[in-house]
Amino acid sequence: MSKRISLTQYLVEQQRHQGNIPGQLRLLIEVVARACKTIAISVNKGALGEVLGTAGSENVQGEVQKKLDIISNEVLIEANQWGGHLAAMASEEMDSIHPVPDRYPQGEYLLLFDPLDGSSNIDVNVSIGTIFSVLRKLSDHENITERDFLQPGSRQAAAGYCVYGPQTSLVLTVGNGVAMFTLDREMGSWVLTQEQVQIPADTKEFAINMSNMRHWAPPVKRYIDECLAGKEGPRGKDFNMRWVASMVADVHRILTRGGVFLYPWDKREPDKPGKLRLMYEANPMAFIVEQAGGAATNGHQRIMELQPGKLHERVSVVLGSKNEVERVTGYHAQGHEQSHAQGQAQPQAAG
Ligand code: AHG
Ligand code: MN
Ligand code: MN
Repeated sequence: MSKRISLTQYLVEQQRHQGNIPGQLRLLIEVVARACKTIAISVNKGALGEVLGTAGSENVQGEVQKKLDIISNEVLIEANQWGGHLAAMASEEMDSIHPVPDRYPQGEYLLLFDPLDGSSNIDVNVSIGTIFSVLRKLSDHENITERDFLQPGSRQAAAGYCVYGPQTSLVLTVGNGVAMFTLDREMGSWVLTQEQVQIPADTKEFAINMSNMRHWAPPVKRYIDECLAGKEGPRGKDFNMRWVASMVADVHRILTRGGVFLYPWDKREPDKPGKLRLMYEANPMAFIVEQAGGAATNGHQRIMELQPGKLHERVSVVLGSKNEVERVTGYHAQGHEQSHAQGQAQPQAAG
């Protein structure tokens, strides 16, 4: 049997040889990975654990919370607040930030998470996940506020996600490529199963919620129309479509075999830049995708360069195989030039 490398060993080696991981960051990643194991147990129990269905509450974005959204959020908070590695946490499921309680030492990092991504798939037994992003606390003061979190994604010290699917996988970057781990359920440990993951630059697969087609902006419509035209169209090749409706699962497929994922701005809620959240979903996924040789933009700009204006900010997302993301971004730039020349207003150019 080939030698198995555990998450702990991987992190120790990164710390020792690459200098990529300070001690507190290593602890943070191990604690998040352990919390994901706890969430995986609840997910696997399903109806037997009485974890399905709605919780009867709404989050700050007005979305109905599922029981598992709340359970996962609590697991991550409980696991992370006492270790001395964090100053504060922020979550898609909490209105405001959660500073580490005074009774615990304050650490150097800020942790953000989407505790349960793909909530609409919980009850139907389709892959769901947890997404996390790690920032450094930049100031010396101990009184952490939302402002401390408002850093562009390029400042992330680490990012990762866990997919609760047929296998439970943990995908991680600390800015030195992307590593994948698979949960060995019998042993209860994360085993390194792929290193230096690379997304092919070209693809024949796209992911978008096609039911929103009539609401899209012209550059997105043009891109998808060209994919649908297949061999006979301008792209000269047939495309395949996949849409899991769990970003973790769609991104995991793209990391595994390439593809492009779009959740663009659309006319349903024209004042919102998009559906997905910049700090809990787009930034960590953009970091992972770029570290795997892919690209991530909001149609105009690199996602990781966007300066967040508020914690729960939303953003339009195009990510995955580099050449496709560049094509979609190029179509937006052309559209911008054209409507500029005609003096028309732009649909949500900003994040
Ligand atoms: P969440 O469950 O954390 O709210 O996120 C769901 C997101 C994302 O995972 C997925 O890509 C998208 O919403 C699906 O949206 P549609 O239901 O519009 O397809
Ligand atoms: Mn989500
Ligand atoms: Mn969520």
